[in-house]
Amino acid sequence: MIKALRGMKDLTFEESERFVHIVTTATNIAKRYGYSYIETPILEETKLFKRSVGESSDIVGKEMYQFEDKGGNDVCMRPEGTAGVVRAFIQAKLDRRQNEKFKFCYYGAMFRYERPQKGRLREFHQFGCESFGEGSVYEDFTIIDMIGDIFKALGIGYSLKINSLGCPNCMPQYRENLISFLNGCKDELCSDCNRRIDTNPIRVLDCKNEKCQSLLVSSPKLIDNLCSSCNSDFKKLVELLNLANIEFEIDTNLVRGLDYYNKTAFEFVSSSIGSQSAIAGGGRYDKLVEFLDGKTTPAVGFALGIERIMELVSMPNIERDGYYMGAMDSEVIDTLFALAHKKRESEKVTLEYTPKKLKAHLKGADRVNARYCAVIGEDEFKNGTIWIKDLSERKESVVLISEF
Ligand code: HAM
Repeated sequence: MIKALRGMKDLTFEESERFVHIVTTATNIAKRYGYSYIETPILEETKLFKRSVGESSDIVGKEMYQFEDKGGNDVCMRPEGTAGVVRAFIQAKLDRRQNEKFKFCYYGAMFRYERPQKGRLREFHQFGCESFGEGSVYEDFTIIDMIGDIFKALGIGYSLKINSLGCPNCMPQYRENLISFLNGCKDELCSDCNRRIDTNPIRVLDCKNEKCQSLLVSSPKLIDNLCSSCNSDFKKLVELLNLANIEFEIDTNLVRGLDYYNKTAFEFVSSSIGSQSAIAGGGRYDKLVEFLDGKTTPAVGFALGIERIMELVSMPNIERDGYYMGAMDSEVIDTLFALAHKKRESEKVTLEYTPKKLKAHLKGADRVNARYCAVIGEDEFKNGTIWIKDLSERKESVVLISEF
């Protein structure tokens, strides 16, 4: 038997309903905030992700579904959505319209060759939003607020962590301070951290190793080393969150696993889904458009992990809906066929082609959660009528076919 690849899943029935419910809820809320839907290709040139997500990130270093296509091009299945949206933004020359703002939302499959475990898939789905052209910290707040709205509509609890990753003004000095601190305790840090001291020292802060974390308690903190612009934006964000009564925690070790961020970074986590607890993450990335050869454009965005959120969402009870139609005799099928076609103009209809006894039809109606079971038997056929049972009200009736 051929099975789905490790870390990849089929979604059916109640699960796929939950998936669609999450995407629809998030899209409707994002539309209220001015986002319009964007669809970008799953396959992109590998260098797009190398340049945006970053060569030293785990995603690019270890997790890419990268291959050479039949034309000899180095391509990659997207590991995340931001890079493709930024590429599309620049390709459509929207970066040249400097006085305008553009907001895009998307959902779709992302691919990371990670070790699969609960909450961590190799093919997973994100819903994301990217806002271009707005440098104000009010936009960072608005995005966090919007995610809160989405989780509220889905009935999900969470906690929010925020941090500031500084900017090219304050980061180089901080980086030097951090490197000299890390070199001071090099021998006690794990091998991953040692590798990162040279490639991406900020990521050391994010190490999950307990010994490393205990050493990092006394490391220089990003938010104590911000320049005045980053500092006042971060303070403003804290003020806006407090004013809106949104609970949060400042996590000075929150650095995110992608290299394109500056200033605001945030993560929403849930304590109810095990170790892979991040349900959404994002932040500001004011340099990425320029880095991918566009005109400098401030930007901020986020993505949420649909599968992780599916673990937390319970679906509202699905009401019985529409008609199930069947016949007890094969000569009636043609009549039913025409009736079903007409009824489908306004109602959901499931039509059973095989003649069956009434009891079997009632079971069939139950299986598809139909509100009405409509059956034509021998008597009804003779009289030009159809027998209908309302399965919610438990009431039966017989009506003329011409009035059905
Ligand atoms: P990210 O934090 O890498 O950010 O991913 C966002 C969310 O995708 C995570 O919080 C998590 O819920 C989900 N996720 C990530 N990896 C997996 C996996 N292997 N299996 C299941 N779910 C997963 C980004 O991707 C950025 N592009 C977000 C962003 C948009 N920043 C600015 N704009």
